[in-house]
Amino acid sequence: MSPPKPTERRAFRRTDDYTPGTPKLKLIKEQLPQTLPPTSAIVKVHAVALNYRDANIANGGNPWPVVPHGILCNDAAGEVVAVGEKIKTLAVGDRVAPITDTENISGRELGRSWLAADEDGVMADYVVFDENKLCKLPTYLDWVSASIIPCAGVTAWSALKGMSIGQTVLVQGTGGVSVFALKLARAAGLRVILSSSSDKKLQQMKEKYANPPLLTVNYSTNKNWHEEVLKLTDGVGVDIVVENGGTGSLVKSLKCARRGGIVSQVGYLGKQNPMDLAELVPTIIDRRVNLRGINAGSKYDMEDFCAALSASQMPLDDLIDSVFPFEEAEEAVEYIWQGKQIGKLVLRV
Ligand SMILES: NC(=O)c1ccc[n+]([C@@H]2O[C@H](COP(=O)([O-])OP(=O)(O)OC[C@H]3O[C@@H](n4cnc5c(N)ncnc54)[C@H](OP(=O)(O)O)[C@@H]3O)[C@@H](O)[C@H]2O)c1
Repeated sequence: MSPPKPTERRAFRRTDDYTPGTPKLKLIKEQLPQTLPPTSAIVKVHAVALNYRDANIANGGNPWPVVPHGILCNDAAGEVVAVGEKIKTLAVGDRVAPITDTENISGRELGRSWLAADEDGVMADYVVFDENKLCKLPTYLDWVSASIIPCAGVTAWSALKGMSIGQTVLVQGTGGVSVFALKLARAAGLRVILSSSSDKKLQQMKEKYANPPLLTVNYSTNKNWHEEVLKLTDGVGVDIVVENGGTGSLVKSLKCARRGGIVSQVGYLGKQNPMDLAELVPTIIDRRVNLRGINAGSKYDMEDFCAALSASQMPLDDLIDSVFPFEEAEEAVEYIWQGKQIGKLVLRV
């Protein structure tokens, strides 16, 4: 006999108070829909992963509009506990995660609706989604590891698209997307140059990825880090850049990509100043670089990525910096805001 359908949930909603030092989240109880829409499922959330974006939204810095007092976070892993009467692709007990942009199924849709911004996110113990916005998760992973797939994982997967064995990739920083990209790139036989603002973090990563040796650059102490990257590639440049800084680093990233290489624009972690882009056009033309925007990925991308994970049985637990209890969501957001992590921070629900 299936368990009774849940009727309410606990969710962290944003306070929308952006004053430093004040709480950014409020835990509330709210009703779940009494009648489940015919093609929807109720998912019991077991783990929620945080991203820089969540801390940025909670502190009022998101460059795109957000719904007032919305629920934070877009990364969750959970189990289907109830299904609508017309659902075809899911059953009670399936392990699933919602896609990050719920309008992006095939990559060809015109709209965009990001969880935690255009609509409520997933920092809750139950969530309700239409079946076509849910992706089945690999069964070999525990909940915490599975929760980091939809945003950081799919973004890293999309940013590295087109890579082939023997190529060189520059991965910027040691945050969630970057450590995922680093791990995928190494597994795919790429040479990786990792940058960080911290020699200590670089040393830790060198020890972790000792064979073959990880190449590293400190982008904070070496303002001309792109020249160092060129040196490390005998002047050729890297095949792919996982670009995380935004305006402050983009031109340098283009300068250290090889002619005809790819720069995947993922992040905007630095101070965003259009004045830094004065050399953008001549540099793109000169180096014939393909600059591509990364917007996590489509549902199809996530399915491909999950298939790759299942085939390789790649463990992901080493990408987890720390696990907090659900109730400590506020502390978790602050931890990310201060950039203390190497890799991912996950809430266990
Ligand atoms: N486009 C998309 O689809 C998409 C998806 C996910 C995330 N993002 C964006 O991608 C970025 C990374 O996200 P995340 O979740 O991985 O963040 P995160 O886990 O918070 O990563 C933070 C780390 O990035 C590094 N960093 C900080 N400033 C930097 C800079 N100016 N240049 C290079 N690295 C810098 C730092 O590493 P060190 O301490 O080692 O220096 C920092 O610890 C964010 O801007 C996020 O909003 C975009």
